[in-house]
Amino acid sequence: RSGDWSSHMCNIMGHLEELFTSTITRTFPEIDKPIVQIQVSKHADYQCNAAMTMAKTLKKNPREVGETVVKNFPEDPVISKLDLSGPGFINIYLDKEFLKQQVTNIVLQGVTPPPTKRRRVVVDFSSPNIAKEMHVGHLRSTIIGDSICHLLEFLGHDVLRLNHLGDWGTQFGMLIAHLKDEFPDFANNPPPISDLQAFYKASKKRFDEDEEFKKRAYEAVVKLQAHDPAHKKGWEEICEISKNEFQKVYDKLKIRITDRGESFYQSRMESLVKELTDAGLLQEDNGRMVMFGDGGEIPLTIVKSDGGFTYDTSDMACIKQRIEEEKGEWLIYVTDAGQSEHFKSFFACSKKAKIYDPAKVRVDHVQFGVVLGEDKKKFKTRSGDTVRLIDLLDEGCQRSEEKLKEKERDKVLSEEEFKKARDAVAYGCIKYADLCHDRTRDYIFSFDRMLDFRGNTAAYLLYALTRICSIARTAGVKKEDITEEAKKNPLVLEHEKEWKLARTLLKLPDVLVKLTEDLYMHPLCEFLYEVSSVFTEFYDNCYCVEKDQSGNIVKINYNRLILCEAVATVMEQCFAILGIETLEKM
Ligand code: ARG
Repeated sequence: RSGDWSSHMCNIMGHLEELFTSTITRTFPEIDKPIVQIQVSKHADYQCNAAMTMAKTLKKNPREVGETVVKNFPEDPVISKLDLSGPGFINIYLDKEFLKQQVTNIVLQGVTPPPTKRRRVVVDFSSPNIAKEMHVGHLRSTIIGDSICHLLEFLGHDVLRLNHLGDWGTQFGMLIAHLKDEFPDFANNPPPISDLQAFYKASKKRFDEDEEFKKRAYEAVVKLQAHDPAHKKGWEEICEISKNEFQKVYDKLKIRITDRGESFYQSRMESLVKELTDAGLLQEDNGRMVMFGDGGEIPLTIVKSDGGFTYDTSDMACIKQRIEEEKGEWLIYVTDAGQSEHFKSFFACSKKAKIYDPAKVRVDHVQFGVVLGEDKKKFKTRSGDTVRLIDLLDEGCQRSEEKLKEKERDKVLSEEEFKKARDAVAYGCIKYADLCHDRTRDYIFSFDRMLDFRGNTAAYLLYALTRICSIARTAGVKKEDITEEAKKNPLVLEHEKEWKLARTLLKLPDVLVKLTEDLYMHPLCEFLYEVSSVFTEFYDNCYCVEKDQSGNIVKINYNRLILCEAVATVMEQCFAILGIETLEKM
């Protein structure tokens, strides 16, 4: 792996870590598993503190240990020099030719992913419930899940994106019973229900108030679960209407996802219950059948006292299906933190039932905090209702339009360009605001904040990117000219700010590796913001295109245009992973 970095980007920190680990184990066989941490350093490029921690075990002076490590270090194309400072810090200086080659590669080949072992990954995200409103919690799940999929797809994994729709609850009994009354001919003519929420509310009202209706609702569930064709048809109609609504949100946000709701697991739930019963893993509790994990988790309800199945049953059947049938090697579930006990329980129970083996399969519950309004209370409309996602997205577009007009973008863009910019900014900002901070924390949804053209927002970053892309364009230099130049002549970097920018760009592979460890996406946003800030520093200090007083171009610095192109490529790749569309003009 090490040695030839001409064809792909090097994850520098990971590479240095490997080099240090192997050198240390070779030099000091008595150290079993060295703890090697590589850090970015102010004095050099990177720094390693291993000598200090090892000195204790070796009962030697840390500086001496450091010197021995440096002496025994192999030649490597990434490193130009190592030296010691302080009590035993090992400073690492990167090879400049290597850095230049890596930057050139970005321009010639794009961002190449760090080497990864390809795995089959199932990502369960979005997952709203049929006939109910898709709410901001589902929006978070959609945004975070989509971004995780982009990341894993980019790294070369085989990703299955699944929408675990809540399409199989007892609520269908009342919905179907109501449907039969309102639209008796639903089997032949699709019912013209325009507002499924209102329909849901009306059926719920009857269910709560009318005993006879309630009885019919229960019968309808039984018939549906017994696969009665007319009931199945009613259920399908309702699902259809609901899914069409959800699809509007996915289309706007350009989300790819495959529907596979809880109902998919119905027959598998039946066999699962039999298996668990035969294995003696279920126990009775007040008429229900429950299952305990081995770690003191809350028990799962596998069969209700009326014989019906639950959310727990479907997730048990589902994890089995994902491991055994889908051959999933990594399962990811994206939901609000409120469900963490549920996930702990069914992970524990599936382990106990030998469905899931932690040595073979990685599972992650990717949880997130609550969305709050600007009043720091639960996100609601003024009248206290749940905010409809479609309305929220539309408001985003309207606000983004106002903002762009304020900046007089409508005067420089064509009508079509303006519309494109409006949507990209609106959806980009909504996504970015969600992804740019620690997902486990609650976050305050504020259009004013996310559409601010200053600071760490998509509005600012998208704009910064269009400006970078326009540097070469306004100088009349085409992208092909830049790549030609990069192919022909070795890159020349001299100015301190040029180096700083190059080093910053080359941190990306390490950032990506880090993201896959804990599936927190905010470090990628921090990186993106850092790139754009370091770019500004560079641009303020280094002319890319020199003009005379009357504005005529007198000199084009191709090396710097190559650097600009590399910055744009890196930023575009980050946006792609975040699921944010970039713009050429804005
Ligand atoms: N439908 C659920 C909800 O709205 C989320 C489902 C998450 N996925 C799962 N396999 N449990 O909260």
